[in-house]
Amino acid sequence: MSRSVRPAPGAAALLALTLPLALGACGAGIGVHGTPGGSGVRDPYFPKAGNGGYHVTHYALTLSYDPGGRHLTGQAVITARATRALSAFDLDFAGLRVESVSVDGSRARWNRAGQELTVRPHDDLARGGTFSTTVRYSGTPQTLTDPDGSKEGWLPTADGALALGEPVGSMAWFPGNDHPSDKASYDITVTVPKGLQAVSNGELRSETTKGDRTTFSWHTAEPMASYLATVAIGHFDITRTTGPHGLPVYIAVDPTQSKASQEVLAKLPGIIQWEEDNFGPYPFSSTGAIVDRPDDAGYALETQNRPVFPGAPETGTLVHELAHEWYGDSATPRSWQDMWLNEGFATYAEWLWEEDHGGDTCQQTFTALYDGTYGLDDPNSIWAFPPAKPSGAAHISDHPVYERGAMVLHKIRQTVGDDRFHAIVQGWAAAHRHGTVDTAEFTAYVEKMAPGKDFGEIWKDWLYGDGKPARP
Ligand code: TRP
Ligand code: ZN
Repeated sequence: MSRSVRPAPGAAALLALTLPLALGACGAGIGVHGTPGGSGVRDPYFPKAGNGGYHVTHYALTLSYDPGGRHLTGQAVITARATRALSAFDLDFAGLRVESVSVDGSRARWNRAGQELTVRPHDDLARGGTFSTTVRYSGTPQTLTDPDGSKEGWLPTADGALALGEPVGSMAWFPGNDHPSDKASYDITVTVPKGLQAVSNGELRSETTKGDRTTFSWHTAEPMASYLATVAIGHFDITRTTGPHGLPVYIAVDPTQSKASQEVLAKLPGIIQWEEDNFGPYPFSSTGAIVDRPDDAGYALETQNRPVFPGAPETGTLVHELAHEWYGDSATPRSWQDMWLNEGFATYAEWLWEEDHGGDTCQQTFTALYDGTYGLDDPNSIWAFPPAKPSGAAHISDHPVYERGAMVLHKIRQTVGDDRFHAIVQGWAAAHRHGTVDTAEFTAYVEKMAPGKDFGEIWKDWLYGDGKPARP
C-alpha cells in the first residue's frame, strides 16, 4: 500500500500558531484596514499548502476538457469567509494560465509566485464576511511530482485524464485553499467530448449532451478536503446499485479492466456493510469506485465517495480505501503530520477484515511485523521513525505511518479489550464526523474512553518514540 520512496528533503519546519493570533489581535475590531491573509497555514510538512485569513465553504468548478489537445478551460467560484480583515489573500494554484479574477463581482488585481496566486480585491474584506471569488483559467494542467517521487495533480490517461490530489495536487486543476484543515462542499461540472464520461465525487445531478459535447454535473454536499477531490475522464462501464439502507453505489470501470474487476467490485456493498458494523454509519450520501488502467496512476487513492484504483484492486486494497471514507475523508487530519490517523486505521481495517474472514488474526499480523516475518522488503523499515513524527515530507506514506500506525491501534486493543476497542474506533469516527483531527485529540479521546488504563508507554514508545519498542 505504501508508495515508492526517495531520500528525505530534510527536517520539517516547526508548527507555530502564534503569528495568526497576533495578526488577529491587531486586525480585530478595526474592520476597514485589512492585512494580507498569508501564503500557507504552516503545515509542518507542506508549509506553502493552504492559505491564511479565510475558510472556504463552497467550490463551484466548471471545467471543460479536450483530451486530444490536453486542454482544460476552467472557472472556479470560491465562496469563503474571512477570518480577519483582509487586504489580500492567497489561493494555491500551480501552472495553467489565469485569465481573470474577480471578488464579489469586481475585477481584482492578482499576481503569481510559485504556487501562490495572490488576489487583491478592489475593497478590503471585512472580518467574518462571506465573499465570492471567481477565477477563470485555461491551459494544459500539470502532473506534479511529490517529495517521494509519486505523480499527482492532473494525469493524462490512455483515453482521457485522472485528477488525484494527495497531498497537494488539487492546485494543478483548480485554485483553492489546498490543505486538509479547510473542508468545503463542491459542485464539479465537467464537459467532455460526446462519447466520453466524466466521473467525480458525490452524486451525479445531471448529464446533458449539446452538439458534440456532454456535460456531467456532480454534487458533494458533505465537507470534502481538497486532496480528496477527483475527476476521471475517459470511457467507463458504469454500474449503479445500492448498498446498505439504500446507499447509492456508482462504480465506473475502464472497459479494459471490467472483467478483472467484476468479482472484487461485487463485494463492495458487503464491505460497506461490514465497515458500518465495525466503524459505524457510513459518513457520506453515496459510495462506489473508479477503476482506471494500471499505468494511469502509481497508487490507489481514497477520493471521497469513490476511491480510485489503477487496475482491478485486491480485496484488501478495496477494504483499505473504503475504510478511509470514515478515517481520512470524514475525520480528516488537520495537518500532513497526522497521516497515521488515516493510514494506520485503513491498514488496521485490512487486518480486521482478514481476521473476520478466515485469515490471520490481528495479533498474528502484529507479531509477524514485530518479528520481521511479515514480508516487508526491509522488515526494519517500520522502525525508521515513529508514526506521529514522519521524518520529512517524502516519508508520509512509508511503513511506519501504515503498518506501525496500525500496530499502535493494536496496542490500544490489547490494553482495553475488544469491546472497548470497538467503542473507541466507532466513537472516534462519530465524534469527528465531517471534521478535522490531530494526534493529541486522538490520545485524549482514547484515555477518556478507557478510564483507569495506562497508555503512557504506548504513546511514548509506539506513537512518538524513535526505534523499535521493547517487546512487552
Ligand atoms: N492514501 C493512499 C492510500 O493509502 C496512498 C497515497 C497516495 C498517499 N498519495 C499519497 C499517501 C500521498 C501519502 C501521501 O491508499
Ligand atoms: Zn491509505
